[in-house]
Amino acid sequence: MTGLFSALPKEVSVYEVSPRDGLQNESVTVSTEGKVELVNALVDAGLQRIEVASFVSPKWVPQLADGEQLLHLLPRKAGVVFSALCPNMQGLERAKSARIEEIGVFLSASETHNKRNINKTIAETLALFRELVPAALANNIRVRGYVSTVWGCPYEGDVDPRRAIDVAAELFKFGCYEVSLGDTIGAGTPLQTRSILMLFKDAFGSFDRLAMHMHDTRGTALANCLVGLDLGVRTFDAAVGGMGGCPYAPGAAGNLATEDLIYMLDKMGVSTGIDLDKLWKAGKVASSVVGRALPGKVHQAGPGFVRKG
Ligand code: HMG
Ligand code: MG
Repeated sequence: MTGLFSALPKEVSVYEVSPRDGLQNESVTVSTEGKVELVNALVDAGLQRIEVASFVSPKWVPQLADGEQLLHLLPRKAGVVFSALCPNMQGLERAKSARIEEIGVFLSASETHNKRNINKTIAETLALFRELVPAALANNIRVRGYVSTVWGCPYEGDVDPRRAIDVAAELFKFGCYEVSLGDTIGAGTPLQTRSILMLFKDAFGSFDRLAMHMHDTRGTALANCLVGLDLGVRTFDAAVGGMGGCPYAPGAAGNLATEDLIYMLDKMGVSTGIDLDKLWKAGKVASSVVGRALPGKVHQAGPGFVRKG
């Protein structure tokens, strides 16, 4: 069989970002205990890669100022990797004291978003990461990379995908084990996704070390991930309930909801190791700790569709 869905994989990896991407964009600051409750519910649902914190400046993202305390309180479980964003050497020192096993370095494919988000040019950021990534690896902390605004920038509009490819190539060169490509403002559409991903495949040979990080501002995140899945992407970032957004990207709304992704994958026979019923309950925990209704579709409709009675 050829064409769309001719080569669906048996399994994919899901990278949960709600405790970080989700909570950084909430108007309330969730208590450390509330964060522990959320992360425990996510672990219980079977998520094994969870971004739980951000070692960025507490002046820039006060909602995540308690990263060390959170990691101190979180029970560790074999097979579950916790990670945190880390923008500089000060962040690495915090990561070391929190005994975290993975950090995420991040920058943008567009200058203006990079400057607004981390107060540096892309070249300055790369110069910093050239030192930071090997320093983390020397401390047995593995490093994931993010490239933001690949599908569009809230300040500059369209972004040439070759700029994103150049940045991703640098991140791999420094020692990142995986690079996640971000549609930071949820601007992407399926045909655009296909053309961007084909350029990445040409540049890197495969999608083995690339992930997709789609925000769902315009309802296209799942469709874009489906295109990625069909082309060979095997790691998808998502946030339970559809929380998320970058405080320094105006117009950015929630990530692709993890429940929506798992519902689709489960029904198509693609395994993730995640229990949808338990994940749905984790979404309810998320909604309760942030004190508002969340936008995810399955979060609202429920994990099944058979009505009793
Ligand atoms: P800066 O002001 O240029 O930094 O910010 P600085 O080095 O001049 O330091 C200023 C102050 O911050 C100092 O404190 C430092 O100690 C402190 P003061 O002397 O004024 O009291 N500081 C720190 N404190 C704790 N931990 C640190 C740290 N670094 C400095 N690591 C900086 C530069 C990068 C720090 C700042 O711009 C920042 O924190 N930005 C983070 C913004 C952010 O977290 N954005 C959201 C995450 S990215 C995202 O959501 C996109 C993603 O999801 C993918 C996608 O969707 O595309 C990943
Ligand atoms: Mg994001």
